[in-house]
Parts: sequence; structure tokens; C-alpha cells
Amino acid sequence: MENSLDTRERRSIANIQKLRFFPLPIVGGNGSYLVLEDGRRVLDMSGTWGAATLGYSHPTIVEAVTNSVSNMAGASSISSTSAPSVYLAEELLNLSPDPKNHRVWLGHCGSEANDAMVRAVTAATGRNRFISFIGGTHGGFTGGISISGYDALQINTESAARPGQIYIPYPDPYRPPFAGDVSTQVLSYFEYLLNTMAPPHQVAGVIIEGIMCDGGDIVPPPGFLSGLAELCKIHNILLIFDEVKVGLGRTGLMHSFDIEGVVPDLISYGKALGGGLPLAALIGPSYIMDNPKGLTVTTTQGNPIAASAGRAVLKTISSERLCDNAREVGSQLITGLKQLAEKHSLIGDIRGRGLVIGVDLVSDHESKRPADLECAKIVFRAQELGAVFFYVGSGSNVIELTPPINLNKKEAEEALQILDRAFEDVEHGRVADEDVAKYTGW
Ligand SMILES: Cc1ncc(COP(=O)(O)O)c(C=O)c1O
Repeated sequence: MENSLDTRERRSIANIQKLRFFPLPIVGGNGSYLVLEDGRRVLDMSGTWGAATLGYSHPTIVEAVTNSVSNMAGASSISSTSAPSVYLAEELLNLSPDPKNHRVWLGHCGSEANDAMVRAVTAATGRNRFISFIGGTHGGFTGGISISGYDALQINTESAARPGQIYIPYPDPYRPPFAGDVSTQVLSYFEYLLNTMAPPHQVAGVIIEGIMCDGGDIVPPPGFLSGLAELCKIHNILLIFDEVKVGLGRTGLMHSFDIEGVVPDLISYGKALGGGLPLAALIGPSYIMDNPKGLTVTTTQGNPIAASAGRAVLKTISSERLCDNAREVGSQLITGLKQLAEKHSLIGDIRGRGLVIGVDLVSDHESKRPADLECAKIVFRAQELGAVFFYVGSGSNVIELTPPINLNKKEAEEALQILDRAFEDVEHGRVADEDVAKYTGW
């Protein structure tokens, strides 16, 4: 259609900022649903990759943002003390392992937080190497990309690893990178590297997602995160938890490091923190976060409207007991997905925690070859049937569920029913290869 949003967008918005799975022309949203140009309401099981953590137009966010924009406390906190950013920083410190000695940096997105982390940590330690995990995503800005191990981000040489970067396998129980106990093997390999190629005096830090999302929603085996923390302590290396996608209640706990009682040195936040508005934070010890002054500054950092949204998100997670909700609704989804796996042999593995869940599609259960084409078709069909799912994984074959963490049980049931039909339709050849051909590339 000549005047459709998609046509107008093709003429106006650059492809370099697009990752698409199917047409999704949005004109509004409420709760867990998006409203499309043709008036259809679709259930958003991605929650905009986890950013819409309270869904769309949550009344607490609407009220906070409306008040803040009606009486703006400046537009930034870089050259002024802005009340909402101070209040938000104090509230974030209350979540940190060491509120007295930690400081908060505020920014716009997770990429920027991890970029700031790289700059602040290298400046403070004088070390410039990082260790990260193959499949990990830490951002789209130079600093974050340069420590990311997700192949879809390695698009050109500008996206390359930093000099001296070391990647290690994530302990994936479904496709283990080493024989034997995967957790022990990965930790031994990590220590072997420290004793050989990456001497600790060169290594500034290790960055990890407590559940690796874009790499395939991989949940590490119990004991891995605490084992890693222990080795970092022994070798005097900073441990950085990237909580951008799984932090702030999504796993059923406030942070993914809480799963094993780990105490990280630095924590990065993004996505959920703004509840859909651009907001991110980095928290760490003042010796890293305070020096040198002005190291990582952009004009609208600490923006009062975004900070007010962040405060509303933190307040709502607690007042609506959303960690509990993520646990309960997440376990309903896992149970329902396991029932689907009995009917649909494409499903090789289901894994997750709370409301971060991956459904790994395979062409056969023995080889576990990623069923990427079928995955693309299933999410395409699910959108036509009324629910938004995106996929992740280096094989582009893991349907990801990161819905709003206030998703209710009825909505979870609706998502399962739609997914069931989408599998059935694809199994019966009702989605053509051409339908999805133009959406490849992630
Ligand atoms: C774990 C993780 N860290 C950082 C980022 C970067 O966040 P953003 O794209 O919002 O800047 C992402 C984005 O997907 C992510 O998944």
C-alpha cells in the first residue's frame, strides 16, 4: 500500500537500524498488547526485547513521566544536580552490594552502560584486556561490541573484538562445548587461560550475563556463576554482571547473580530500567566510578523524564511483587511449553528462569542441528495469529520469551495456544519459504 507505515518507513528509516522478523507496524500499545496499523491487537511476548518490562502505558510510568515532563528538572545531570537522577541513583544503590562505597552512572541504553564500563574499568585498573563469553551480547557501541561474542554483531571490522580480548565458551548444558561436566570444564579452561595467554595482571575484568540471552537463552548449570566469582576473587579480576536483559526481576529474582548469591564488582542495567524509555545505569566501586571526572559524558545523561520512569519501574516491581509473578507465570509457561514439546518434535530443548525462556528448535534430536527456517516461519505465523515472538541464538533457532514481567496467566495461556497453532501450521506447510526469505540475517 502506497501510504502504509511500512512503505513510508522504507522511504525514511535506514536499514542499518533494522532487525525484522515479520511486518510489525505499531500505532499504540496497552499492557502486554501492541496495537497495529490495521487495528489488530497482538500479545507482545518479546516485550520489545525485554525493554517493556511493565508492558505498555503502565499507569505508574504514565503518571511519573507526565509529572516529570510537565515540570522538567533540567534535561541532564552532567552540569547540574537533577532531583530525579539523584533519587534514582539512591534507589539503585539500595539494590547494590555496597551502597556506601558504590556510585551510579546514568545513561541511555545498555550499550552505553557497557561502553562506559570498559572505559572506566580500563582507566581505573590500567589493564586493558577483558574476558567474555562466546555468544554474549554487551552492546552496539564500540566498547560493548568489542567485548561481545555474538556472531551476529560481528558485521564488519568496526565491530571487531578489542585487541587482547579473550573469549571463552558459555557453559551450555544442551550443546556442551566440552565433554564431561560442562561447568567444571569451562572453569578449568578459564583458569588455564589465566595461567597462559591471559595473565591476570593484564585482565581488567570478566563480563557475563547470568543467563545468556541473545546467544540462545542459555541457563548455566548450578554452581557455575559462583565458581566463576570464586576464581575472579582468587586472581584479583573484576567480575562484571551484565543485567541489561535479565536484571530487575525477570528471572524471578532482582538480579541474575542473586541466583547463586554472587557479589559482582560492577553491574550494568538497561532495557527494563526505563520501562520502555531510554535509560541505563552502571554501578560499581567509587575508585572506578569517580575517576577521572567527565570520562564518559553525553548531554542528556541523567535525563529527568527517563529517570522518573526508572523510579516508577523500581517502585512497581516491588509494589506489584513482580519477581513473584515472573516466577509463577514463568513456570506456567515452561510447563505449557513442555506439553507442546510432546506434540511438536521440532522442539529440542526448553530452558529458562522466570520470564526469560528459550525454545530451541532442532531438525532432529540427535544432531541438534538448528531448525532456523522453521523457527523463522513459526514466529512469522505466530504474528499473523496474534502474538509477537522474536528468535535468538547463533543458529537463529531459539524462540525467545521475554514478555512484560507483569504478564498474567490468561495472557500466558493465550501465548501457548498461539504458539501451538503456529507450530501446527508450519508443520503442515502453511507458511512458504518466500514469506520469510526477506527477514533473514539475525
Ligand atoms: C545482555 C545485553 N547487554 C547489553 C545490551 C545492549 O543493550 P541496548 O541494545 O539496549 O543498548 C543487550 C541488547 O540486546 C543485551 O542483551
